[in-house]
Amino acid sequence: MLKSIDCGQLRTDHNEQEVTVAGWVNRRRDHGGLIFIDLRDSTGLVQVVFHPDSPALFSTAERFRSEWVVQVHGKVRMRPDGTVNPNLDTGAIEIVAAEATVLNASKTPPFDVNQDTPVDELLRMRYRYLDLRREHMRDNLRLRYRIVKFIRDYLDDLNFIEVETPILIKSTPEGARDYLVPSRNHPGSFYALPQSPQQLKQLLMVAGTDRYFQIARCFRDEDLRADRQPEFTQLDVEMAFVESSDIISLMTDLYIKMAQTLAPQKELILPVPTLTYAESMSRFGSDKPDLRYGMEIGDLTDIVGNSEFQVFANVIRDGGMVKGFNAPGHADITRRQIDDLVNVARTYGAGGLVTIGIDSSAPSINALTIDHIRTPAKSLSIDEIKAIAGKVGAVPGDLILVAAGPQPKVEPVLGQLRVHMADRLGLNDPNKLAFCVVTDFPALEWLEDAQRWHAMHHPFTALRDDQWDLLKTNPGAVIAKAYDLAANGSELAGGSIRIHQRAQQEQVFAALGYSQVEVDELFGHLLEAFEYGAPPHGGFAGGIDRLVVTLSNTAESIRDAIAFPKTQAGVDPLFGAPSPVASAQLDDLHIAIIATDEAGA
Ligand code: AMO
Repeated sequence: MLKSIDCGQLRTDHNEQEVTVAGWVNRRRDHGGLIFIDLRDSTGLVQVVFHPDSPALFSTAERFRSEWVVQVHGKVRMRPDGTVNPNLDTGAIEIVAAEATVLNASKTPPFDVNQDTPVDELLRMRYRYLDLRREHMRDNLRLRYRIVKFIRDYLDDLNFIEVETPILIKSTPEGARDYLVPSRNHPGSFYALPQSPQQLKQLLMVAGTDRYFQIARCFRDEDLRADRQPEFTQLDVEMAFVESSDIISLMTDLYIKMAQTLAPQKELILPVPTLTYAESMSRFGSDKPDLRYGMEIGDLTDIVGNSEFQVFANVIRDGGMVKGFNAPGHADITRRQIDDLVNVARTYGAGGLVTIGIDSSAPSINALTIDHIRTPAKSLSIDEIKAIAGKVGAVPGDLILVAAGPQPKVEPVLGQLRVHMADRLGLNDPNKLAFCVVTDFPALEWLEDAQRWHAMHHPFTALRDDQWDLLKTNPGAVIAKAYDLAANGSELAGGSIRIHQRAQQEQVFAALGYSQVEVDELFGHLLEAFEYGAPPHGGFAGGIDRLVVTLSNTAESIRDAIAFPKTQAGVDPLFGAPSPVASAQLDDLHIAIIATDEAGA
């Protein structure tokens, strides 16, 4: 070993001991005729002092620059009075250098490695190996490792086994495009990288591996969003002989215990509530509600059904609804800020937004007069406003936001506005952790553009037992045995009980518009397996990358949770991937590139 101890492990117990340490020069200071360096390795920092009385050693230290790799041999001593650094674990001691060796020099890094100052993200990704030297990034990698270890230990105790499934496989429909890998030996044929191991884990259930998990890499070629990566990692779980409640309990208990163990600094809100999808949409306008704060959405339809304010009355007459929520203490919002809010509502698809500000000078809601109210909806009566305020829990000084329209539009718009207002009001406290289970998702959703039904979770999801007849008569109303786990407004995990009988699976494929030929081609292997004693089964999968962000105090995006992530445009700036390949390689794969404008040709 080039070192006898790690930098960050040194304590007062080591006083007077001779040690050899090695690491990176975090900082060099020349002070009072002495040279001080903070030497850093993966465990932390230690201060090393160089005295001028050994000139050769001193001149070696004079050459040290930030990020040089050096080895130091010396004696540990207590820091002199007044120089102890209580913010550093090693802050009570220092090493007096007796020998020093430069193991490698370093160019000046393109950004400060020793500070957590903001740095352009592209630059960070281009020099990821330097970015990962920074303390908070090192902590995120470590947290990720601990999360995965916690999961493995937890599931091992419950007699689960981890099984690896292939990366080169066939298309597994999870709603995104596949990444394809051309086959050299089978010209014109392709493997697909798995969007998840969904079918494989179901086949493992047929195989009798009745408690399976995997820390599984998944690949999805989809439009990237802030919380998505084209390749990401799932905790993938499947069990045989279970019902929804068994998987929900397992999933919830695992995440609660993990949060308590690995993120004790966060205030965990317990017990974890369970909402049906319909309830979650109705009260929070989202299927992954952020429950760190209230601002529940109230149904105002009955209150304003006969209102003089025609906008509301007309919407209700056309079968729509009027709903709203209260933003506490926001009555003094400016005209311009209101315009901004209306614009936000429009970007989320609302026809419009009505605000009702209640002046803080009003003695109470009961005693409101029209002089206390600021709203563009002048024809709302004071009684209607009082009833609205009562419904959404507003008090003087608050601002009520109201939207009207068809239910499928109004609820998500208000849901987005609720998140927006929480952000403005600073209610989304990062030190709080609010999990929430959402159940009873619709099985199918209608895709307007494609004019067809689409499986909301995936096509292998079982329907609630009483819903099979509805599949033919009213597919949009069918409820599935599907559930999600959300935390702080982010979807952390999702799963379902699966169909395990061929006839039922065929009914769902038919409802989704697959032809018999397509079913045989895409899913023949699974349907056949179901005919050989497939047990009832179900499971879930949770995103590890998002979980790291949720439990970390410093990760700002999913990219902070991944050692070598891709940009929002799906690019790795360090390797320069994706990249063109040699034509010989393409020839081997029987591939010809067709130049298009889009490809830059
Ligand atoms: P689903 O598609 O809901 O379910 O994915 C499960 C969880 O994986 C995470 N996730 C992602 N994380 C980062 N980047 C992405 N592009 C991305 N896509 C999904 C989310 C999500 O909750 N086979 C089913 C699970 C099952 O039914 O058991 C599945 O993959 O946290």
